[in-house]
Amino acid sequence: MKVNLDPIQIAKQKAALEAVKHVKDGFVVGLGSGSTAAFAIEALGEQVKNGSLHILGVPTSSQAFQLAVENKIPVTTLDEHPVIDVTIDGADQLTPELFLIKGGGAALAREKIVASASKLNIIIADQPKKTALIGENNQFVPIEVLPFALAIVKETIIAMGGRPVVRECKGKLGPVITDNGNAVIDAYFGEIVNPAELAVKVKMVPGVVETGFFIGLTDIAYLGYAGGVEKIEKLRK
Ligand code: 5RP
Repeated sequence: MKVNLDPIQIAKQKAALEAVKHVKDGFVVGLGSGSTAAFAIEALGEQVKNGSLHILGVPTSSQAFQLAVENKIPVTTLDEHPVIDVTIDGADQLTPELFLIKGGGAALAREKIVASASKLNIIIADQPKKTALIGENNQFVPIEVLPFALAIVKETIIAMGGRPVVRECKGKLGPVITDNGNAVIDAYFGEIVNPAELAVKVKMVPGVVETGFFIGLTDIAYLGYAGGVEKIEKLRK
């Protein structure tokens, strides 16, 4: 358990601790990416290390893989376990309807694949990430793109009314390259009234590998705040 956390980190940790209560012995668990999901991986690792929990993890990124290894969580693959019992992952923004934007850590493609293979998807975040509409507060939508198609995907995003920005590395010159060898466009669309429609339009653009729109994929969200944890539940059929 980490100490000396700031209020946002404490909120993230509270949400994570609530989510890990859903993990039962013997489960295959999707391990999300980002700083909030890291709290969940750490909490699961504590139980694994003290012998009270036996799970297999399916990491959604190289970061999640590394954290699983550090926290002694045995990892498996979708080839070996194509059905995941529960996935716990973070989000960049979410609405009360559980429309999400993900991909701030450029792991959106694997995160969506793991989410789609999961019986239960739990999202954890600090409460300020909840907004009435996605795209509020200048939140961009990450889009994973084949490098070969970068220029034409940018043009198409502009034609759709968006402002595309190719994500650049920090600490290294050049564009961010995902775990799948692709580039990322962060697209600013402003407030998005119909995210399901825009998600399909963007996904259909040749060269787009995946979008950060996560619509209809989430069952439960736990949102940490100073006074506790808010739960939003929209169980999928
Ligand atoms: C990575 C993600 C993350 O879950 C999202 O960016 C949230 O990150 P954090 O918990 O660090 O705020 O989608 O691709």
